[in-house]
Amino acid sequence: MTSPMTTSRQGDILILTSDNPPVNALSNAVRQGLQAGIEEAKNDDSIKAVIITCAGKTFFAGADITEFTKGMQEPALPTLVDQIEALDKPVIAAIHGTALGGGCEVALASHYRIAVPSAKFGLPEVKLGILPGAGGTQRMPRVAGVETALELATKGDPISATQAQQVGLVDKLATEGNLLAEAIAYAQEVIGQPVSRSSERPVTVDTAVFETFRKTNAKRFRGLDAPATIIDLIEQTAGKPYGEGVQAERMGFMKLIMGKQSAALRHVFFAERKASKIDGIAEDVQLRPINRVGVIGAGTMGGGISMNFLSAGIPVTIVEMAQDALDRGTATIRKNYEATASKGKMTTEQVEGAMGILKPTLNFDDLAECDLIIEAVYESMDVKKDVFGRLDKIAKPGAILASNTSYLNVDEIAAATSRPQDVLGLHFFSPANIMKLLEIVRGAKTADDVLATAMALSKKIRKTAVIAGVCYGFIGNRMLMPRQVEANHLLMEGATPEQIDKVHVAFGMPMGPFQMADLAGVDIGWHRDPTRIENIRDALAAEDRWGQKKGAGYYDYDEKRTPSNSARVAELIEEWRGKLGATTHDITEEEIMVRTFYTMVNEGAKILEEGMAQRASDIDVVWVYGYGWPPYKGGPMYWADQEGLKKIVEGLEKYGFEVAPLLRKKAEKNEKFSK
Ligand code: 3HC
Repeated sequence: MTSPMTTSRQGDILILTSDNPPVNALSNAVRQGLQAGIEEAKNDDSIKAVIITCAGKTFFAGADITEFTKGMQEPALPTLVDQIEALDKPVIAAIHGTALGGGCEVALASHYRIAVPSAKFGLPEVKLGILPGAGGTQRMPRVAGVETALELATKGDPISATQAQQVGLVDKLATEGNLLAEAIAYAQEVIGQPVSRSSERPVTVDTAVFETFRKTNAKRFRGLDAPATIIDLIEQTAGKPYGEGVQAERMGFMKLIMGKQSAALRHVFFAERKASKIDGIAEDVQLRPINRVGVIGAGTMGGGISMNFLSAGIPVTIVEMAQDALDRGTATIRKNYEATASKGKMTTEQVEGAMGILKPTLNFDDLAECDLIIEAVYESMDVKKDVFGRLDKIAKPGAILASNTSYLNVDEIAAATSRPQDVLGLHFFSPANIMKLLEIVRGAKTADDVLATAMALSKKIRKTAVIAGVCYGFIGNRMLMPRQVEANHLLMEGATPEQIDKVHVAFGMPMGPFQMADLAGVDIGWHRDPTRIENIRDALAAEDRWGQKKGAGYYDYDEKRTPSNSARVAELIEEWRGKLGATTHDITEEEIMVRTFYTMVNEGAKILEEGMAQRASDIDVVWVYGYGWPPYKGGPMYWADQEGLKKIVEGLEKYGFEVAPLLRKKAEKNEKFSK
């Protein structure tokens, strides 16, 4: 096999270039090549400096994650980075794309770093449940300061080259497109100068920083092992020599990588990438061009959907029926952008840029200019059919027609047109400009290129998309249903809302079923007939207890929306228990787990069996990105594997549920959902 590393000479400079697509991961072959290059530089007196650079779209994006389960082969990355730094000739890292994880650590070990302005730097290991394990926790505080190191290593978000330069991580910015030439010139400048090794620099530290950092980020790091380990590690090693520090780093790394959280987070990483692969579709299918998007409805959903495209620079035509609704919708979009700008996350020019490509209109026929039209109107089959019938008459040939329905049958909607091959579901989650998940609903007749175009577009608008089949509630909401039903039954059988919610929060969910109902609105889906009260939810809605927005729902809320238990809700629950003749019993945590979590897994198994999800890991992606399932528990199907499918089956049987055949079969064969 040919090596992904090549060496070349430019006068007395040795250039080491990695070409290991797609992201120049530091695989064993790359590490061997780098090590050989450093050895060559060490032994050849005619070499006066070394440049480490990468071909393709990026500098090293990190260690090769696929090698994690195989056991690290020599040369290990920690050894290699120390060898790079130890060279007594200047090593210059020439960076474009993303210098992430191990890639950033190679850069830190190099004596100089030159980068193009579009480059990004980061330590995303924490997102895989691990810590920077090749000197990153030791060199970053020395190069960029403790606060930057904490920020980068515990949150995992990258910074721009300009920010990196401000904190001392980048020594020089190069012109875009001229990186290597400028790196060579830079190398020539520094040849002969004594090398400056970052591991030899002192760490300046104010001990109060750590406590403040822990407190400020307590909510964000809840339940996660890696950030806590990283903060402790940096704190404990700050005053120690580098050698001692890296030893502690190694121990922390080994502990985390063998833990359950890292395994789950790595599962999510690969699951997310796998989700974008569409079964049965050729990789090279020709995509349809999407130069303008139409959105029907300027309400919360339509506005949020539009923002995704505007932010990505794709012009949007947004249609409403009445001027005041259109004005309100447009104003909300602007307000949201301005709020982002006020937090410094957008410039005024970017706000105006996005607003400048929004075309609000009352004329439905204006949609004729759009390549993709997304309907976000009232959730009623008749209304949707009417909209699609009208669209069929005016949309340009080849335009993709999408419904944002959460539950309705996309095939039935498609049948209202003469072009069902162009129709699909694009189910955004509220708030649509923020939530990462997108369910792409594949109708019976949806054309391959339509699906592939939607998937490619989802990347452009930075969504994580999953293909779902046509069934009630698709993947996410369909699995939510048994959970809601059981949570309500549990209330009638003796549990309280807070008892159930507490189990969910302790599990790691951002909130439990009743907290979620209060946030979303107890009135959602309510028939709005106060005389027709059929269950506790209707009763709450009829009393104006619509949740947080009304200051009362399953909980009472103060002005700051802090919840407290409600005496009135307790009364209503009692009343409804009486009406239904429900007998109560002590509800245990185990019963709540089985009835509100195992039932979701059971539904997930049915979804898989019916082919409504392409693979179990897609279901995990839906729950992690759409419903706040803790990523460190990998998603419901992955979690079920860890619980043990036999245990899940036994639990379901104990409480009288019908077990999905696929789940039973897998449990009997001792198989797992995740491969
Ligand atoms: N190792 C192995 N494969 C990787 C990889 C890595 N570090 N990073 C990405 N890939 C693979 C993906 O699985 C995907 O494979 P596929 O085509 O077969 O699905 C392919 O590369 C392309 O990845 P993306 O679809 O994510 O490409 P994008 O262009 O959207 O994003 C990226 C590029 C920003 C580099 C993104 O891939 C990314 O964030 N990668 C992970 C970076 C990371 O976590 N680095 C730290 C690794 S751990 C480490 O370094 C430990 C060290 O401290 C010892």
